[in-house]
Amino acid sequence: MDNLILIGFMGCGKTTVGQQLAKRLSYSFLDTDKYIEQKLGQTVGRIFEEEGEEFFRRLETETIKELTGKLNHTVISVGGGLPVRPGNAEALKKLGTVIYLEVSREVLAARLKNDTTRPLLSGKDGSLKMELLYDKRLPFYEAAADIKIVTGSKHPQDVVNNILEKISQ
Ligand code: S3P
Repeated sequence: MDNLILIGFMGCGKTTVGQQLAKRLSYSFLDTDKYIEQKLGQTVGRIFEEEGEEFFRRLETETIKELTGKLNHTVISVGGGLPVRPGNAEALKKLGTVIYLEVSREVLAARLKNDTTRPLLSGKDGSLKMELLYDKRLPFYEAAADIKIVTGSKHPQDVVNNILEKISQ
């Protein structure tokens, strides 16, 4: 199997870190949001708008099941809400080693301040929504993780080095 799965809140660096980690390990890289977008031919924003959040969550769960047993030596970055849905944390563990990229609420708030790509944070109350979601999700990320990496505002290459150290222990 040997897959590595990156979980964590929106903006924690899953995609950037994931791509660099895959490169260092000569692994493939897969992002579940991109996978869903390609499958449906629609952006995540559009899926939320037209079909609603629940539809998107079902697609996320299906995606994990679909990929299980099919991937090898792959770094997988999953959407921030995926580990929260019942059953998904267990499903992720079947897919590979789950690595939680933890970033503080403050660092995330600064990063996501002007973000327009994430439907859950859109609108004028975006930062408040972000804080509420952050508190709600934290325990799910902790519970789903095999390994936790405290990233702070570290450079992605340093986060990659931290991950490589941890998985070689
Ligand atoms: C979401 C996170 C997004 C994307 C969707 C919902 C969430 O992915 O799946 O907008 O609920 O946290 P990223 O975590 O990659 O931004």
